[in-house]
Formats: sequence, structure tokens, C-alpha cells
Amino acid sequence: MYQLMQKFLFRLPPEAAHDLTLAGLDLGHKLGLLGKIVARPVDLPVRVMGLDFPNPVGLAAGLDKNADHLDALGALGFGFIEVGTVTPVAQYGNPKPRMFRLPEHQAIINRMGFNNHGLEHLLDRVSHRRYPGILGINVGKNKATPNEASEHDYRKGIAAVYPHADYVTVNVSSPNTPGLRDLQFGDSLKGLMHAIKDEQARCQKDTGRYVPVAIKIAPDLEDEGIRFIASALKESGLDGVIATNTTISRNAVAGHKHAEETGGLSGLPIRDPSTRVIKALYSELGEALPIIGVGGVTDGNSAAEKIRAGAKLVQLYTGLIYRGPGLISESVEAIRELRQH
Ligand code: FNR
Repeated sequence: MYQLMQKFLFRLPPEAAHDLTLAGLDLGHKLGLLGKIVARPVDLPVRVMGLDFPNPVGLAAGLDKNADHLDALGALGFGFIEVGTVTPVAQYGNPKPRMFRLPEHQAIINRMGFNNHGLEHLLDRVSHRRYPGILGINVGKNKATPNEASEHDYRKGIAAVYPHADYVTVNVSSPNTPGLRDLQFGDSLKGLMHAIKDEQARCQKDTGRYVPVAIKIAPDLEDEGIRFIASALKESGLDGVIATNTTISRNAVAGHKHAEETGGLSGLPIRDPSTRVIKALYSELGEALPIIGVGGVTDGNSAAEKIRAGAKLVQLYTGLIYRGPGLISESVEAIRELRQH
């Protein structure tokens, strides 16, 4: 069924197909059809960051940037959903076209540039949600905010979403906001981590609730950079790390007509690079704090591989575009089998 729909959707420009799919999903949900069409995954409970997940397979950030489709997406059986990236103030993002399909590689290149409606809109959406499951909210900085002032945007984002989120993700790894990824290194990273913990403590005092905060990193890191992040994470007391975002490398898709488009590459070509980061992180972190694995999960095997590499949870994005929602239960099933052996 999804293969048929995909044939039609792939004739449209990627961003139009994205919007149409989500509108269709909303309609299907309103009509009560989703539960009949999509097989729900088996229960596979797991406790991570102090939260009880019904299964370890979640939706990665960027697909529902404004939390406009939470209820419909929730009905697909994800163990958790991460919305955002949301920036303090609404921004248009980069000019279109800014998303490209590379079907020969089961991949996407995007340079959306944090297009989103801003915190106020997202808060309105999440506070009216019916989705009862685990909700992560991913925060970023506005393009116009210089890196030196990024702490302000992250504090603002964390404080605003804290009362509504089960966990918060701080995104320092999008390749589409100039300079953002510099925040993954040296004193910038340590300073930011300190500010995050400080803001979290303030929010905990205000709300009486402890909401875990994770940081999301890029796959384009040398071993030394990964070791530095791991040690900074342990020192900081942050609650988790999401590995990884999209890559700026084009090695795996060289020669493709879209290979030279600026942006982040996702999907099958980043399966191995992101698993490499997970393994390297796990060898430093062990069980000190959990890793959420994301990047190139396109079938059950690649989901189980992330868990084997040390991740406690996985997330999907590009795989959903190529495989449809059946990928959720396939991934849960593969992880269940892995646990049994
Ligand atoms: C993304 N991703 C992303 N990540 C993030 O933290 N904030 C965001 O706003 C976005 N936006 C976004 C848009 C598009 C079109 C894509 C394809 C991806 C990255 C995403 O969450 C994930 O980390 C990577 O895509 C790798 O996973 P997949 O896609 O290979 O499963």
C-alpha cells in the first residue's frame, strides 16, 4: 500500500510530498483509519533517562517541526516522538528548493535551515495535544542570533518547552545554520552544557519536575572530538546524547546529480557513519548516560545494529520516506529478537 502511495508522492517535489503526506495522515487519523491501516508494533518497554518508553523506536526531529501533526503521528505506534527543531522566533528557513531525494541511495539532502513557526506556535500545539505518549522537544537557535549569544536562545527554548516536554533536546549539529556545529567543540561546548544544566535546575525549581535534557551531535566528528564530547557529557551531568544528525560528507553519493547540493545528507549513506559515532561514544560512556541512535535506519537490521552498538533507543526519519510506517514495527521486532538472543 505504501509503495503505491510512494509512486505518486515521488512525482511531487519533496517538500510538497512531505506536506501532503502529513495532511493525509491527519485526515486518516480524524477518520479513525490509521489504526486499521498501520500494524501497531508489539510492546517492548524500556526505561531510559528515567522515562518509561512503550517501545524503543521513535520519530526523529525535523519531520514535525511545529508539532502540528502530533496526534496522527502518535497513532502510528512510535515509542516516542521528537518535535522541532523550534527556534525562539519564527523563521522562514532557506529558499526553496531545499530538500532533494536520492532514491538510488535511499537518501535525502536537506538544507531547510530551521524553518519553523517559533516557540509560541509550538507551545500552543503541544498544550492542545491528545497524543498521550512520550514527547521530546528539540530546541535550536535563530539564524540571526550570533553564536556568542546562542546560550540566550537555548535557555529561552528550554525554559519555554520544559513544562510540556518529557525530554528536551539541544540541537548543536544542524549543518544548515551557519556556525551552529562549532558549538560542539572546546570551551563553547562546555560553556553551553553548563548553561543548559543551570537552566534545567532553574526550571526544575519552578515546576517541581525533573525533565531530562539530551544533546544532539553530528556524524562528522573525528575520534578525538567524540572523546571530548563524551568526557564533557560525563562532567556536565546531561541526561543523554542523540547520535547523529545529517552529514556534510558526500563520499557515499559522489556522482549523483544532487550530490553537490548544499545541506545535510541522511538515510542509508549515514547508517555506518552514525553507528561509528554511537560505538565510539559507548566505548567512552558505557552506561554513564544513554545514547539515542539515529541515522540510516532503513530496515529492522539497521535498527538492531544501533542497539548492538550501544544505543538504548533509536529514531527514524529518512527510512520512513522510503519504507513507510511499516518500518516502525519492523524495527521494534528486530530489536525484540536481538534482546532475546
Ligand atoms: C532533519 N533532521 C533534523 N534534526 C534536528 O535535530 N532538527 C531538525 O529540525 C531536523 N530537520 C530535518 C529535516 C529533514 C528534511 C531531514 C531529512 C532531517 C535530522 C534527523 O532528525 C536525523 O537526525 C537525520 O536525518 C538522520 O536520520 P535518518 O534520516 O537517516 O533516519
